[in-house]
Amino acid sequence: MPKVTYIEFNGTEHIVEVDKGLSIMEGAVQNNIQGIDADCGGSCACATCHVYVDDDWIDKLPEQSDAEKDMLDFAFETKASSRLSCQIFVDENLNGVVVSLPEKQG
Ligand code: FES
Repeated sequence: MPKVTYIEFNGTEHIVEVDKGLSIMEGAVQNNIQGIDADCGGSCACATCHVYVDDDWIDKLPEQSDAEKDMLDFAFETKASSRLSCQIFVDENLNGVVVSLPEKQG
């Protein structure tokens, strides 16, 4: 099973196995990782699943959809590495991906 590393804003690291086909957001929620609210449940309609993707991984992710780009405008303190974690689905190619959580959502 692919592993995903979540780094909380306070630096706490969680390395968890996430089923293929689940989103990075779903992996966080299922593992009780704090810092991803996911208010809309993964419909790309809330921007409270915002994460910063590690530089080594940003180019390996699928392109952002227009909907994700638009919704990211509502996220807190976005950077070039910002993504909505409900729009990134885990597969073997993303084994080892690292995401950091922002100070807060929304
Ligand atoms: S969970 Fe709402 S946009 Fe990702």
